[in-house]
Amino acid sequence: MKKQKTLIFKCSACGHEEAKWLGRCPECGDWNTLIETAVSRSPEPGPGSKGKVPPQSIPLSAVDPQEGGRIGSGIPELDRVLGGGIMKRSAILVGGEPGIGKSTLLLQAAAAAETRGRILYISGEESLGQVRMRADRLGLFESEKGNAPGDPLLKRNSPPGGNTARIELCCTGKLEDIETILEAVKPVIIMVDSAQTLHTAELGVVPGTINQMKYCTYELISWVKEHDAALFLVAHVTKEGLISGPKALEHMVDTVLYFEQNDGDCRFLRAAKNRFGSVDELGIFTMGERGLSVVEDPSLLFLINREGELPPGVATAAVLEGSRTLLVEIQALTVPAKGSMSRVFSDRIDSARVSRVAATLEKHLKLRLSDQDLYINVAGGIRIAEVGVELALGCALYSAKTGLSLPGRAAIAGELSLAGEVRPVRRLEGRIKTSRSLGFDTFLGPARDIPDRPGESPPPVKETGKIIAVGDLKSAVKALFS
Ligand code: TYD
Ligand code: MG
Repeated sequence: MKKQKTLIFKCSACGHEEAKWLGRCPECGDWNTLIETAVSRSPEPGPGSKGKVPPQSIPLSAVDPQEGGRIGSGIPELDRVLGGGIMKRSAILVGGEPGIGKSTLLLQAAAAAETRGRILYISGEESLGQVRMRADRLGLFESEKGNAPGDPLLKRNSPPGGNTARIELCCTGKLEDIETILEAVKPVIIMVDSAQTLHTAELGVVPGTINQMKYCTYELISWVKEHDAALFLVAHVTKEGLISGPKALEHMVDTVLYFEQNDGDCRFLRAAKNRFGSVDELGIFTMGERGLSVVEDPSLLFLINREGELPPGVATAAVLEGSRTLLVEIQALTVPAKGSMSRVFSDRIDSARVSRVAATLEKHLKLRLSDQDLYINVAGGIRIAEVGVELALGCALYSAKTGLSLPGRAAIAGELSLAGEVRPVRRLEGRIKTSRSLGFDTFLGPARDIPDRPGESPPPVKETGKIIAVGDLKSAVKALFS
């Protein structure tokens, strides 16, 4: 199809197109961003449109929910976080601090992805040689020669026959160059490392400005939607918080993944936004000499192996992380407040939750905490946002303030109401099972599970072994500390 040149007015901030000039973009509301642009493509606007089909609607019921379908990334942890693989025609932002392993993850996924199509890795930051050196370090070529014992990340041998041969590499951030290469290579997966290096001559030469990034990202997203491909975009964020750039891209992409590091070697991959799956799943990796690998048994990762009695202030919580149950050690410390106001220092569990649980203890157990500074930590550095952690948190605080230790092999789950009741939590049976399998002989929690479907009567917990069902905080404390 011969492409024609047309003049349009394009928003440099969000890519919105108008036939005539306007002072304010009707899409994103930015002022003075519409720029006269010559486009050499069929004049139909917007992503997702194909060919010259006149605009039409189709019945909702006739829409294929999987649209483009998914491509397995070859990395089970990544697939899980994505909601079951890489969705075609989607754009995925991978954010994280410099050095956390974004480039490594993408290169490993490029080698492992379950597709016969080509994969284009666009590096605007590193040279061809640097990317090749990383690939060698990851042993991506060795497994093809058949002399590698199998990739630890994939937990299977790479399929023979040039898995890496289909990876095409180019080092540029210039949109015009990228578009030329895209037309030549026609990749099914595009990896852009990083969004901050993207720039286009249309908006000046300085890469990394927000407008440049948004404009180029919009163009690349349009390309993948039209060509049934998928787009990965790396974005650097700093420790101080998210710099405005990647944040500005979040609403344009379908999925936002953030890579975080705990105090040790673990790397956590979380979805902050996911149009094609849940945002609850957590991918857990470790970075080793040969790149990222999966953690065999993450349920043990957040416990500290202790002999004998637990120190005061330590409790073990059985919490849900997506589809998994993890046992995590909650540590609490209370010291008399240094100022006139007591403070909460907790960066792994929401401080508001800690304050609320402390207030509940104070009110219902007459345990004075309001004149104390509260320090809360979670072993292994994982962030816990699940409500089922509250009872364990309460027990850890109680233990810290009273100096009484919890029994060593007790796992705890339950939500705490402001009235001091222990509320049911989801998947109680699963939590009990996981605790058992990890050698926790006592389980303390609510008497009932939350049913999977609302309206069903909640199934009572099957009392096997040492399960202590408690209805309120008072009886929980009595069961554990007496
Ligand atoms: P990288 O993927 O370059 O991080 P990002 O793209 O997020 O900036 O990974 C950087 C760090 O990982 C770097 O400090 C080196 C380390 N690393 C390993 O420990 N093992 C490896 O096999 C690789 C490739 C990197
Ligand atoms: Mg990198």
